[in-house]
Amino acid sequence: MADHILAIDQGTTSTRAMIFDRSGETVGVAQVEHRQLLPRPGWVEHDPLEIWRNVREVIGQSLARAELTRHELAAVGITNQRETTVVWDRSTGRPVHNALVWQDTRTQPMVDRLAADGGANRFAPTTGLPLSTYFAATKIAWILDHVDGARGRAEAGELLFGTMDTWVLWNLTGGVRGGVHCTDVTNASRTLLMDLETLDWDDRLLDAFGIPRAMLPGIRSSSEVYGTAPATSLVHSVPIAGILGDQQAATFGQAAFGAGDAKNTYGTGCFLLFGIGEQIVRSEHGLITTVAYRLGDGPPRYALEGSIAVAGALVQWLRDNLGFISTAPEVEALATSVPDNGGAYLVPAFSGLFAPYWRSDARGALVGLTRFVTKAHIARAALESTAFQTRDVLDAVNRDAAVPLAELRVDGGMAANAALMQFQADILGVPVVRPKVAETTALGAAFAAGLAVGFWADLDELRALWREDRRWEPTMDAAERDRLLRNWHKAVSKTLDWVD
Ligand code: G3P
Repeated sequence: MADHILAIDQGTTSTRAMIFDRSGETVGVAQVEHRQLLPRPGWVEHDPLEIWRNVREVIGQSLARAELTRHELAAVGITNQRETTVVWDRSTGRPVHNALVWQDTRTQPMVDRLAADGGANRFAPTTGLPLSTYFAATKIAWILDHVDGARGRAEAGELLFGTMDTWVLWNLTGGVRGGVHCTDVTNASRTLLMDLETLDWDDRLLDAFGIPRAMLPGIRSSSEVYGTAPATSLVHSVPIAGILGDQQAATFGQAAFGAGDAKNTYGTGCFLLFGIGEQIVRSEHGLITTVAYRLGDGPPRYALEGSIAVAGALVQWLRDNLGFISTAPEVEALATSVPDNGGAYLVPAFSGLFAPYWRSDARGALVGLTRFVTKAHIARAALESTAFQTRDVLDAVNRDAAVPLAELRVDGGMAANAALMQFQADILGVPVVRPKVAETTALGAAFAAGLAVGFWADLDELRALWREDRRWEPTMDAAERDRLLRNWHKAVSKTLDWVD
């Protein structure tokens, strides 16, 4: 009996497949990391063919671990690192360049050029987004400008663009033999090319970035049947029925469906989404407006998002670049071996600073050093930076939204760290709540796919599956919190006046 849903989570550092049963419990999981290609400072690339191989591998492994076959799958959902840009040849299936990852800042000159003529927010009324290297548009333009002949071939319809959801879907549905070329509204809302109201590509934006419409995928809802896999696939004939960008998927998996519901996911980056319902709210305090989800022909739901570029990536940096720890989980013991940060503050502006500052020219800073400071204090400052950045985003949410945020649902790797979550609640001054099923990103994609095929009936049924695991109440006294925040903002100011 088809009593399970398989979700593919194509993330920044790894690709996972997870199989869920009707109660939302995980019954099989597999994960494979891919290489981070860093050819120059600020450049970050992935090999799309390596990622597609990994997708197939994790599908096979997860089915084997759950001891299931495709006959026991009701649907497949896809979720993905957003904004990461692939351009490939539709007749060979070969990418014309490595994928440009969302963290990649090589397109800063183009961003500056466009911003000089109308300001960094010139496209925000249409897209909800500031001009930034973060989003897909300038990445597509860079590939068209730097790969020989690419622009002409894109105009002739020979090259296709996709974010990772589109790349995975196209390959999964047959690739060169009739692959489906589409994306969902949540991923499309991260390109700087979609009008948030019409949910269609906007010709004025395509003109401004020099992107031919012929290469763009169709924009579909987040929950509908897009296609099926060919006979050669392990998921042959199973409907592929849900697509959500990973942060929207985590929001969906947290059952944060309504206006005023919020979640924060601590992954490679850290992303807080705050539901605003069916009406678009345009941020005046450095947040972006994004599509949260759209179910079939239903109305789109929107969210305000505070995007933080570096969270878990900072732990990897402590491990790989500084050698402070040999595995990422060791950071918790190191950071809690000291009672506080010893006066040190670390601002990880490695890809500039995203929300609410949007300064791609910012560079990281470690300040407040004395001879007293040890690597344990620096590890602690690294973890605390995620909590401080989240507080900056929360302040912006509370200024933009009619109703202040009452509690924050959390998930992602660092949400397992109890000391950090207590510090987060203290710095925010609101409770922080973690659900029992921590795999909210994959679960959200499974939810979207399951709804499309009637596996789950409606949002109420999904809401009933959400259960609290643990809650942290704020306990820090206000004077201490204010002192820490004052120092944090002094540290941030150091990253903004850095000029190379
Ligand atoms: O916008 C980038 C985001 O989608 C990446 O998420 O979880 O891979 O850090 P993650």
